[in-house]
Amino acid sequence: MLKNSIKFKKAVAISFGRNYKEILRIQEEVVDSLSPDEVLIKNSFAGVNASDLNMMAGQYLADKKTPFDLGFEFTGEVVATGEAVKNLKAGDKVIGIKTGGGYREYVTLKESDAIPVPEATPQAMSLITVGLAASIGLSVVGEMTKGDIVLITAAAGGVGNIAVQLAKQAGCHVIATCSSADKVSMLRELGADRIINYKEESLEQVLTNEYPAGINLVFENVGGEVFDVCVANLATRGRLVICGFISEYQQQEPVRVTSPRIYHKLLWKSASVRGYLYSDYPELIPQHLQHLMGLLHDGKLDVKIDPVRFEGVEAVIDAMDHLHNGRNKGKVVISYK
Ligand SMILES: NC(=O)c1ccc[n+]([C@@H]2O[C@H](COP(=O)([O-])OP(=O)(O)OC[C@H]3O[C@@H](n4cnc5c(N)ncnc54)[C@H](OP(=O)(O)O)[C@@H]3O)[C@@H](O)[C@H]2O)c1
Repeated sequence: MLKNSIKFKKAVAISFGRNYKEILRIQEEVVDSLSPDEVLIKNSFAGVNASDLNMMAGQYLADKKTPFDLGFEFTGEVVATGEAVKNLKAGDKVIGIKTGGGYREYVTLKESDAIPVPEATPQAMSLITVGLAASIGLSVVGEMTKGDIVLITAAAGGVGNIAVQLAKQAGCHVIATCSSADKVSMLRELGADRIINYKEESLEQVLTNEYPAGINLVFENVGGEVFDVCVANLATRGRLVICGFISEYQQQEPVRVTSPRIYHKLLWKSASVRGYLYSDYPELIPQHLQHLMGLLHDGKLDVKIDPVRFEGVEAVIDAMDHLHNGRNKGKVVISYK
């Protein structure tokens, strides 16, 4: 039992669906006890993810019953510990990830899943989702190799800004797509070699004119016609990693296309297209997270956090609008007082 029970707010989905404005509700929950191996964390920040929509639609990591809790990663302060907790104490700062763990003011977590950090910052928190997505996706799934021409789509977003930096550090030539002059400046600062503001130039024309031998590795986050252009421009032995396809996340049904089967586009150049979820690589997570935390600590990774502030669970819908309207530069976060 806790000394005092704690009442707090959280965001839930009342049914499965992709219209987040219709299905998201704010509810109250009370926590009055902890399992022996759990800690209670007062959240300081939570990450907003494109995949919140996939979770709401029941496609990805959602509970099977409704209503269900929302959000993924969080960071905050330990405020209480179960009787068997050994290494954490009240006042410690941690990052963590749990289905339904982000969009709530307090969260319980097994001690073994709580990762201590010096400070509860959105940058450290972002490593556990978008950092891992970029790191494992590029180096393991994409087999990124020094000298590769690497194309990163949605490069100024949460995953993208870290992917750009990791690809540069690996000695690659980085092409980055985005939609505004502000984002172009940010990507230039991060070291991208060729930045394509797709509102002003055609991705297809840039790739065919400037990269006639094709792209060795595409880290694809957008889907739709962007995906088609990327597949068409893969180099011999090129790899395309499907990290996501945000352009379809608000569609009720998958967009249907009629075109030759994809093997016509791949076989003749020994190219491949690889679906990828970082959560399917659990054995690699500790090593990649440690590496990312080292880079952050040493000032070698500048995790970009979107400057727009979203306060509390009531702001989740606005934050999702911001992300899905393509306005964010870097990782979108919710902050809690
Ligand atoms: N595979 C995994 O394990 C994994 C893990 C985490 C995230 N992801 C995926 O990574 C991608 C990025 O996720 P994130 O949470 O970091 O989001 P994000 O990139 O921070 O935000 C989305 C960005 O996508 C861009 N975008 C391009 N076309 C768009 C369209 N038609 N509609 C909306 N946005 C569009 C927008 O920027 P510009 O238009 O300026 O480019 C927007 O700012 C998503 O596809 C997500 O599903 C995958």
